[in-house]
Amino acid sequence: MTLPKKSNVTQDSISFTNMHKVMLDKFLLKILPKNTNRLYQAINYSVLNGGKRLRAMLIYATGTALGANLDFLHLAAASVELVHAYSLIHDDLPAMDNDDIRRGKPSCHKKFDDATAILAGDALQTLAFSVLLKNNTIKLPNNMQINMLNTLADAIGIHGMVYGQALDLAAETSVIDIQELTKIHQYKTGALIKACILLGMHAANITPQHAYWDRLSAFGEKIGLVFQIVDDILEATTDSQTLGKNSESDLKNNKTTFVALLGINNAKATANKLIQEAFTLTQPLGEEFKHLRYIADYFINRNF
Ligand code: IPE
Ligand code: IPE
Ligand code: MG
Ligand code: MG
Repeated sequence: MTLPKKSNVTQDSISFTNMHKVMLDKFLLKILPKNTNRLYQAINYSVLNGGKRLRAMLIYATGTALGANLDFLHLAAASVELVHAYSLIHDDLPAMDNDDIRRGKPSCHKKFDDATAILAGDALQTLAFSVLLKNNTIKLPNNMQINMLNTLADAIGIHGMVYGQALDLAAETSVIDIQELTKIHQYKTGALIKACILLGMHAANITPQHAYWDRLSAFGEKIGLVFQIVDDILEATTDSQTLGKNSESDLKNNKTTFVALLGINNAKATANKLIQEAFTLTQPLGEEFKHLRYIADYFINRNF
């Protein structure tokens, strides 16, 4: 059987993402503490355990399209993936979603213990900021550094991811509607994804006054929401082994999801509509944004 030929554009983007994933992993290895104690082992285990690195890819694709320095992109990509790894460790803890499997392996607190998992998450969060603050060989220009730090802090704290996680947990014991669920998804998952687009722009010295700023920010918001809607859909339609995490987690925790509120077909239709709106936003942008479009396409077509 011959596989259908991938278009040149797709092939190019596959090479782009593969190449950047390898570079990122090398970069992360340099930043991570060496395996000498339980805390460091838990950190390494949770960062180097097979994440898809989609947030990093958004940063590379946005920044590259806008002519950013690759080293600056490595710093932003590494810091976001460290934050993301921390968020997953804490999300899986017994006090939160209580999930035993992450990325196809025992979740951090199962492999180690609850206290080590909490501390590993804490340490990863501060490490993410240190990565942007100091590096032996790469020095971010001052303005860019401050912009990146602000964007990351805003996206993950009391007005971003952590707030969303609090709303998500509170909703386990209350009845919420689609507006409230949309808000939860935007905060808990969308905020960090949107931040990746902003970080890619910062790395290229693009400011809010630039013609592309609002367009790309809106694109980031749309695909951020799509990502979590698709996550809800995948959890309802795909087995745990394929997902690399517990496909019964939402049910077990009485989570309200897009699938629970709208049904599979309408949840898919909502995600499709949002992704079309996101693509429309990129229409005036040139060929150099093809990798960003490819990654957005992957957001909706992924199967784990
Ligand atoms: C999982 O994100 C957590 C959500 C926000 C839904 P990913 O599916 O990007 O996780 P990894 O990094 O590939 O494991
Ligand atoms: C994860 O959301 C969001 C964050 C970690 C911030 P979920 O709890 O819905 O994601 P999974 O299914 O555990 O990956
Ligand atoms: Mg959760
Ligand atoms: Mg979870």
